[in-house]
Amino acid sequence: ATANIGVVGLAVMGSNLARNLASREGNTVAVFNRHYDKTETLIGEHPEAGFVPASDYEAFAASLSKPRTAIIMVKAGAGTDAVITSLTEVFEPGDIIVDGGNALFTDTIRREKAVRETGINFVGAGISGGEEGALNGPSIMPGGSDESWVTLGPILRSIAAIAEGEPCVTHVGHDGAGHFVKMVHNGIEYADMQLIGEAYDLIRRGTDKSPAEIADVFADWNTGELESYLIEITAEVLRQVDADTRKPLVDVILDQAGAKGTGAWTVQTALDLGIPVSGIAEAVFARSLSSKPAQRAAASDLPGPSEAWTVDDPDAFISDVRDALYASKIIAYSQGFDEIVAGAAQYGWDIKKGDIAAIWRGGCIIRARFLNRITEAYADDADLTLLAAAPYFAEALGRTQEAWRRVVATAAQAGIPSPAFSSSLAYYDGLRADRLPAALIQAQRDFFGAHTYKRVDKEGTFHTLWSGDRSEIESVDTH
Ligand code: 6PG
Repeated sequence: ATANIGVVGLAVMGSNLARNLASREGNTVAVFNRHYDKTETLIGEHPEAGFVPASDYEAFAASLSKPRTAIIMVKAGAGTDAVITSLTEVFEPGDIIVDGGNALFTDTIRREKAVRETGINFVGAGISGGEEGALNGPSIMPGGSDESWVTLGPILRSIAAIAEGEPCVTHVGHDGAGHFVKMVHNGIEYADMQLIGEAYDLIRRGTDKSPAEIADVFADWNTGELESYLIEITAEVLRQVDADTRKPLVDVILDQAGAKGTGAWTVQTALDLGIPVSGIAEAVFARSLSSKPAQRAAASDLPGPSEAWTVDDPDAFISDVRDALYASKIIAYSQGFDEIVAGAAQYGWDIKKGDIAAIWRGGCIIRARFLNRITEAYADDADLTLLAAAPYFAEALGRTQEAWRRVVATAAQAGIPSPAFSSSLAYYDGLRADRLPAALIQAQRDFFGAHTYKRVDKEGTFHTLWSGDRSEIESVDTH
């Protein structure tokens, strides 16, 4: 036994994570892949890493010092279960199996429970940052037992990205907590990307700027409060020219967005928890809509606005779009944190919101300057009811909301879809509203189903005898 950590699954994420581990002082890394040729390629290409290769699970287990610790980096789904089964056959009580893939958190809860029966620790760990992050420092969101964290903590801290001097990893909570938080991270990622897409589309259609010129706008935004990885790469993408056609690359890419499911999981879970993550939901739906060519073709002749759209002052418009993007982004994060709070309550996890914001400051796809502000908001008040209402964000929303309204109104009038901008604004106004038409909905429910309602002026549950004399009775029925 010579290695203190092992990696199973040597596709690009696994290989890069293994190389990252090997590059840190004190680690010796065992590597295993179902097909040995991949293992051979990796050790051939990276002799400096000093990998300990294994050709079967027995050899892999034998190469690891105790407690054996292995990180699985295979495609989420059935493949993960197969690897877990093989590892539990060769590991012993006290050893640690880490799933570093994008597993559905309920699968992680199920797997943790099953593996725990054997005395082996199972840890679901969300890992964000793509290929580059895996190699140079990702943001890591591990769940699992306190016992496993004792061994795993120092190893994960050694490879995580560093933000403000701190490694971007924390023990999120037990069993599926890590994968839950990673799922919400991805939901926010979807929202962020959609919001950037809407901003780009509005500027492209509203001004005569080319993609390369819009790249400069994003690069400029990236020097201020919007500074983030996704804004940065957007500028790079918009500058890219296609080698064949010499057109902007963004103009030759088919406009049908793919998705591997984590955004949809975030929304499905939020629906179950009753949390309105409307910005994230619109981002998921916008990808679905884009990928329906038949429906899009069927709708292509439907009428749009009769008047042509012109922007009088492009600079002012771009500034408004920037504000709309920032305000909507605040809402997306606020909704995401609401889902984390609700998930923690539902599944009994003690998740520290401030710590989550802190580990998202570096390494991950949604890393952004304003995560410092979120960390501060939770440091000021760990039980904050609404992130968007924390002083810093309240000020930002107050400053941007007029521009946000102008952009949403303009987009509607111009016939440019802005589902994430507009749904975020509707959410903001819904929360702000003194009275909501929910009162009317309660009355309708009572009318057709005697579902009862409560009153603003007295305690109790009431029902109006809609099909009788329409007098009101106090009801004990609360369905
Ligand atoms: C990350 C990313 C990563 C992956 C997404 C892409 O945090 O590093 O979120 O997990 O790139 O799953 O998701 P889609 O293919 O669904 O866009």
